Amino acid sequence: MDSCTIQLTEAAHKYGNLNISYCGKDFFPLDTFGGSSKKAGIGTQITIKAEGISEPIKTDIPTDNKTGRPRWIFRERAWIRSFLSSNKLKPGDTITIIRTGKRNYQITPNNNNTKEERHKISNNHYYKTNLGRIYLGDSLKILEKIVKPNTVDLIVTSPPFGLVRKKNYGNVDAHKYVEWFKPYRKIVFN
Ligand SMILES: C[S@@+](CC[C@H](N)C(=O)[O-])C[C@H]1O[C@@H](n2cnc3c(N)ncnc32)[C@H](O)[C@@H]1O
Repeated sequence: MDSCTIQLTEAAHKYGNLNISYCGKDFFPLDTFGGSSKKAGIGTQITIKAEGISEPIKTDIPTDNKTGRPRWIFRERAWIRSFLSSNKLKPGDTITIIRTGKRNYQITPNNNNTKEERHKISNNHYYKTNLGRIYLGDSLKILEKIVKPNTVDLIVTSPPFGLVRKKNYGNVDAHKYVEWFKPYRKIVFN
């Protein structure tokens, strides 16, 4: 099951704009992308069940008149204010869109009002596409949880280095660096 997480901005509350660019193009069937206006032609609608809204919503996604690129908002937006208010959502809160079928989606609030909780999305990943996942947190703890033995081919990383100059994010001193880094090797290659 595919899902994506959206952080709400003021535009969601003011105009009903949900920034669905986070979901990526593959998250929606191609024919969902319609013209720039209803007159120009709407795309084939998807059906969304939103928590707190009794009727399913049908909408397509408009594209930009000039560039032809998606505008990354749902065309039908009247329901969004009721969705935000019935779930007591504020700018900064996150919601998750789950794809439940070819043209079917579910939207649920993450009920995460603190900054830390905003990042703690279902299954612990912060963002997901067909190409992979992004996790947010202490990498050692996350790797301990998710890496299965003999599954890693390559690691590309930009870790804190054993720098002489202290960084705000708390790099260890050069002489402690190797010991600090060893647990990563153990998790990934043991
Ligand atoms: C050398 S910087 C990498 C910067 C990054 N390449 C960039 O362009 O923004 C190291 C980064 O690792 C983060 N970091 C430090 N300890 C971490 C940990 N245990 N888990 C995940 N990230 C950590 C730091 O906050 C810092 O942003």
